Amino acid sequence: MKHLISTSDLSRADAIALLNNAQELGAVSQREVKRLPALRGKTVVNLFVENSTRTRISFEIAATRLSADVINFSAATSSLSKGESLKDTAQTLQALGADAIVIRHPASGAAHNLAHRGWVNASIVNAGDGSHEHPTQALLDALTIRQRLQTGEDLQSVNVLIVGDIKHSRVARSNIHLLQTLGAKVEVAGPPTLMPTGIEELGVTSSLSFEDSLAKKPDVVMMLRVQRERMNDNQLGSERDYAKHWSLADERLRSLSANCLILHPGPMNRGLEISSEAADDPRSAILEQVANGVSVRMAVLYQVLAGGEL
Ligand code: NCD
Repeated sequence: MKHLISTSDLSRADAIALLNNAQELGAVSQREVKRLPALRGKTVVNLFVENSTRTRISFEIAATRLSADVINFSAATSSLSKGESLKDTAQTLQALGADAIVIRHPASGAAHNLAHRGWVNASIVNAGDGSHEHPTQALLDALTIRQRLQTGEDLQSVNVLIVGDIKHSRVARSNIHLLQTLGAKVEVAGPPTLMPTGIEELGVTSSLSFEDSLAKKPDVVMMLRVQRERMNDNQLGSERDYAKHWSLADERLRSLSANCLILHPGPMNRGLEISSEAADDPRSAILEQVANGVSVRMAVLYQVLAGGEL
């Protein structure tokens, strides 16, 4: 595997191998000396053209734990803000010796272009492209589900409910592909304005009622951030209305089964899509998701830059 652009490119065997490696590499983070020599001499560039806290930092930690050199390149402080094209920026990074480029970009397809237009030889890892995909997020979600629900290697017959702003969510799209590849059943629920038409073609069921979906007693409830920056006013309506129908709070939180897992990719809008009570509930694995982000990104960087057995 030279690049990771979309979870739809991963076979079941690829996905399980990445998760197994992530699990093993995660153990390094528990040691006193949190470093392996696996990627010594390799250079990883984090090219972040859109804001990020946890994803950028966790790619940085992941690369460092594998002894790669890491360069952080953010749009605001680079020539991209002077209008340099993505192609020119990428070729400059290549000339500077980048072996892998981790890219986050507001345009859907940016990572794909970088990987397949022949501009650079580096491995490309998609860290979120517009509303399209965020494959490492889906992998860390799958790892978290696997660990918490003790499912074994895949997620056969696990029922996952993804809730909220489905339309703008690259997290939802990457999860829909990966979770189903691993054998899970996926339902998406959200208001009609934030539900893409034809989403069922991806193999999921869809619902316009949170209550109806919760009545089916899902094993996992994955709440999505309301992505105001990608919407116009009509799509959201009032925040009060949104919270009333779509927040994981009160009765809805109480209706979850005793071992239902609560996930959220962060950053959370507490009080909008999720209540503080839900975010801090013992069934929530939100901080485990963050920790697993490092393990999964170590596995992905290792796979694209070194490959083969650990
Ligand atoms: C997600 C993203 O950027 O797509 N966040 C993340 O990577 N942790 C989700 C979001 O921003 O809502």
